[in-house]
This record gives sequence, structure tokens and C-alpha cells, in this order.
Amino acid sequence: MKKPFTLLDDFGKEDGEPPHLRRNKIVSLLKEKFDFENSHLHSPTGKDKGILSKCFGYFAPEQAKELGIYPYFKEIQEIDGCHVVIDGKEAISVSTNNYLGLAQEPRVIAAARDALEKFGIGCTGSRFLNGTFNLHKILERELSSFLDREDAIVMSTGFQANQGTISCLLGRRDIAFSDRENHASIYEGCSVAQGKTVRYHHNDMDHLEYYLKKHSDVEGKIIITDSVFSMSGDIANLPAIVKLAKDHGASVMVDEAHGLGVLGEHGKGVGSYYSLEDEIDVYMGTFSKSLGSIGGFISAKSEIVEFIRHKASAFIFTAALPPASVAGVIAGLEIMINEPERINQLRENTAYIKRGFFDMGFQVNNNSIPIVPIQIGEEALTLYLNRLLFDDGIFAGVAVSPVVPPLNAMIRTSYTSVHNQNDLDKVLGSFKRLGLKLGILPKE
Ligand SMILES: Cc1ncc(COP(=O)(O)O)c(C=O)c1O
Repeated sequence: MKKPFTLLDDFGKEDGEPPHLRRNKIVSLLKEKFDFENSHLHSPTGKDKGILSKCFGYFAPEQAKELGIYPYFKEIQEIDGCHVVIDGKEAISVSTNNYLGLAQEPRVIAAARDALEKFGIGCTGSRFLNGTFNLHKILERELSSFLDREDAIVMSTGFQANQGTISCLLGRRDIAFSDRENHASIYEGCSVAQGKTVRYHHNDMDHLEYYLKKHSDVEGKIIITDSVFSMSGDIANLPAIVKLAKDHGASVMVDEAHGLGVLGEHGKGVGSYYSLEDEIDVYMGTFSKSLGSIGGFISAKSEIVEFIRHKASAFIFTAALPPASVAGVIAGLEIMINEPERINQLRENTAYIKRGFFDMGFQVNNNSIPIVPIQIGEEALTLYLNRLLFDDGIFAGVAVSPVVPPLNAMIRTSYTSVHNQNDLDKVLGSFKRLGLKLGILPKE
């Protein structure tokens, strides 16, 4: 039989002690068990020699596992929409990007199965040489038509779409202006590229303008932003970005990973949300969130897409997206367009959960993005709460340093159109009970 989880055997009853004192006591007790700030999943900084020595001195994950607070790589044994089985235990997942419930949609599965039977499990080659199937071209046409853009290019992951595109567009004399909260794949693209990158403070248009002015002598400029920031759930200030881009002769690239299927008409993304579709020069999207699968794409004017098609090494030198995934995305896209009730339900669920968290006393972003980070602060408390949530049947994700600044650790929750009222109430109920127990929430 499994040992019960007893990291803190007892930290006393809630007996009138003020919440902040209770919280501090729990954090101290946790820190006695584990050096969170200095050990947790960070590489050792010891002076060991040899390139591999860092691996052999890296004990933090193992220690966190022993304490029962390790939050990563949980093995999902069963999944249906937002319901999962992990370690034989049923849980509601609020750690999902399956915003429209398409990952397990029967019509999507049927389309994928047909393609699997017709074409096999993979393309065994790059799109460039021998891995382009007619399905890829169909999907590219559907995406261009959905977004009303000239062309599109389907890549094997969203990460590669960003990395490959930025690294080939950003030439030696060019400069990218990138939001500091942009996704890691944008960072990677910029660092692989020959051109220079400056990072403006998150969503800070004054800072962006400052940099644009500072580099006014550079001809080739591109502003790159996530449309929806994956940790905070913030929406990019596209109107201001577009204005600055026009004023300073810059192009605009938007990563719609979390905007597609969520924002705008039929989920077309932030451009549609602000009625600025035509102002986005390079539209990047993924199939791994609202479309429930894997893969990424770029959509733009045909000359731009044609250039990327022949220049992006992350596209050329990797195997093509498998037929079943492509067919599943084609089916999913059709459902997304023809069943707007999914997006409506997602928005209703988002509004409901945000209202619930807000009423409890948590700070939430007042927008329609289904990413709802719950700010906790200390890493120790966040990992502990995450474990208690899991014991309570809630599977959530955590974001700790260096993904977020130290002392800004959070439980990152996200929602879908297939969470039902009971699921949402259960999530809110667990956060409330545990928030009070740990002194995170003020007493009622
Ligand atoms: C904003 C953003 N861009 C790009 C990606 C990469 O996409 P994919 O996971 O489809 O490779 C992600 C995924 O986490 C993301 O959140």
C-alpha cells in the first residue's frame, strides 16, 4: 500500500492565528525539509570539473520526489477531455491546453485513424524532400483560407515554427524587438539568428518605443510578441504594437499559440480580436493547444512563406508532421469553425472560474483568456499546495523560478470548453479549503 503523504505531519489547527503567521510558519517548516530557493531543480553551481559532473551532482529532483512535492512528468494513464487518471487516481485536469476539447473528439480521432490506415505512422522524411503528403497541402490551404492570408506552411511543432522562422528572417543587419515574456521558442529563434535582439519589458509599450527609437538607424526591424502570454494569460497590446511598428517601419510577428481557438471571431486570434488582422505580417500558430494535436504553422504573404519554406532549417532538416496528426488537425479546424458553441462555452467557463477565484480573494486577469495563474509567492508553499491539490483530485501545473521570477511562484491553471460546472466548482472548492488551511487566503 502507498504511504500517505506526510511532509508536514502537523502544523496545528486553524485556531485564530492570523493567516500570514500561519503561512510563514508553514513556509519555515517546509524550508527546514528542503532548500527550495537554492536546490529546487536548479543546476548545482559547484566547482566540479568535467562537462558531465553537473549531472552527477544534480540531486534536487530526486530530493523533491522523496519529499512527495515533485510536480513534473506525472504519468497520465487515462484521459478524457479534462478528466485524467494519474497514479491510479482520478483527477480534474486544470493543466491542459486542450481548450476546445478536440484532443479526444471522436470525429477528430476517426479522421486521424483513417489517415493512419491510409498512409502509415510517419512520413519518414523532411517536408522538403520526401515528406510532403497531400494532407499537408490541404491543411495549408485550409489555414490560409480560415485566416484569409495568402499562404501557410505546416511544420512539425510550434517550437520549430518559431525557431525556424525567426532564425531565417532575422538577418545579420536586422533587429528583433521581443517581449520579455515571449515563449522560449522565440528566445531560441532569436539566439540562433544572425541578427540582434532586444527584449522590452513585458507589454511595456514605452520601453518598446524607447528601443525602436534607439535603433532607428536599423532598416530591418521586426516586433515579435506572443498574442496571449502562456504564463500570465495577458493579451498583447496589439493596437499599440501596430502603431509603433508603423511609426518606426517595423514588421510584426505574432505567436498565436494560445490565441488560436480562444480569441477573436471563430478563434482566429488576437488580430481578429482587435480587428487588426491585416497588420500582422507573420502569423505563427500551433496545433498543440486548441486544435488538440501537435505541430505548428506560419501564415503570411506568399513570398514570405516561400522564403521560409526554403530557408528555415528547423523545417527543412526534420521529419514532417505525421499523417494522422495532420488529418486530425484538419478535422479539428473544421469543427472549430463550424461549432462556435465550443468557444462560447470556453468563454463562459473562463468567466465563471475567474469570478470564483476573484470572489475568494485571488487576483485574476480580467480578460477572456482561459489561463488563470494563481499567484502564491514562495516556491515551497506553491509546490506543497500543488501536491495537496493533487491529493484532492486536482491536477494543476506549477511555475517556479527561473520560469517566473523568484518569489513569484504560481499554480498555473487553465480551462477548457469540456470542464463542466461540477469540475469548476470542485476546483474552486479545493483552492478555497487549501488556501484557508495554508494561510494563503484571508479568513472569511
Ligand atoms: C506561446 C507559445 N509559443 C510556442 C509554443 C510551442 O508550441 P508547441 O508546443 O506546439 O511546439 C508554445 C507551447 O508551449 C507556447 O505556449
